[in-house]
Amino acid sequence: MIYSRITGTGSYLPARVMTNAEFAARLDTSDAWIRERTGIAQRHIADQSQGSSDLAFHASVKALAAAGTKAAEIDLIVVATSTPDYVFPSTACLLQAKLGVKGSAAFDLQAVCSGFVYALATADSFIRGGMYRKALVVGAEVFSRILDWNDRGTCVLFGDGAGAVVLSADSKPGVHASVLRADGSYADILSVPGNVCGGAILGTPFLKMDGQAVFKFAVRVLEESARETVAMAKMSLEDVDWLIPHQANIRILEATARRLGLPREKLVVTVDHHGNTSAASVPLALDEYLRAGKIKAGDRLLLQGVGGGFTWGSSLVTL
Ligand code: ACO
Repeated sequence: MIYSRITGTGSYLPARVMTNAEFAARLDTSDAWIRERTGIAQRHIADQSQGSSDLAFHASVKALAAAGTKAAEIDLIVVATSTPDYVFPSTACLLQAKLGVKGSAAFDLQAVCSGFVYALATADSFIRGGMYRKALVVGAEVFSRILDWNDRGTCVLFGDGAGAVVLSADSKPGVHASVLRADGSYADILSVPGNVCGGAILGTPFLKMDGQAVFKFAVRVLEESARETVAMAKMSLEDVDWLIPHQANIRILEATARRLGLPREKLVVTVDHHGNTSAASVPLALDEYLRAGKIKAGDRLLLQGVGGGFTWGSSLVTL
């Protein structure tokens, strides 16, 4: 049997840190409100000169180094992003060029905040099927570009960043099981309902959200997909060492852990200092906990995404 394993991780955050105090100076909000409702204290914001492919590049270089893999050995690049550099070519192709290699397959995957889990499951399937042996799987976002900076209900929630993993063929799993789901009838509760048309913007280029509907939906499906994925892997929730949900909001994370009966110590939390980085949040959180020595080789991780679409999913992984 061929399986896939995560053999290296990397992440990148833009240098500029934006605290809640900066919002409070400009909008009718406060550090206390943002912290209490979201758990967020600060986020990183990309410089205007940086696109998602630049953030992806920095994260990828670190993941490749951690895996002891040369970029030329990668035969598949998947970039999960909803904030690509261009309409086309894909951010994955731009990343491939920045890495100085050619010839591998490269494409973007758009599943908003579930993007990384979707991309991981996609790359895992290609590797299990024998089509590729080494994949670079990246989540990279510059959500700061699609926020209405005068809408206090949304602009305080998000940040920019990138996370990457090298996924390699192996005789042992690796990725045990993945569940991916979507329900397009919930498109309206979280969207950027705009497009480029004839040189102008059609619709709106800013993120719109029904926060309470998103909250309820996210908590329900994160619980459901965790249980489904663990059952598919023929394991139980006690086998999970770390729960790494998409870092949307501390209250969503804690509610999910509580519903699953997982203790707070097993919950990975980085939303306080990254904000919600959409497709980048899961690999960013994984890399941070690994580098801090909290997550260790051999640990069993439940990675979870949920976001616009609506999309959601989970992967159970042994590191
Ligand atoms: N500062 C101060 N007041 C605010 C702010 C703010 N930043 N944002 C909203 N408010 C106000 C509202 O205007 C409203 O005022 P009103 O009563 O005068 O009308 C009041 O706070 C309550 O608004 P609600 O929307 O009911 O506040 P709620 O308690 O639901 O908290 C929040 C809002 C934090 C967005 C919450 O709904 C939430 O966490 N939802 C999940 C959303 C999320 O995580 N989205 C991320 C993207 S989706 C994903 O990644 C899965």
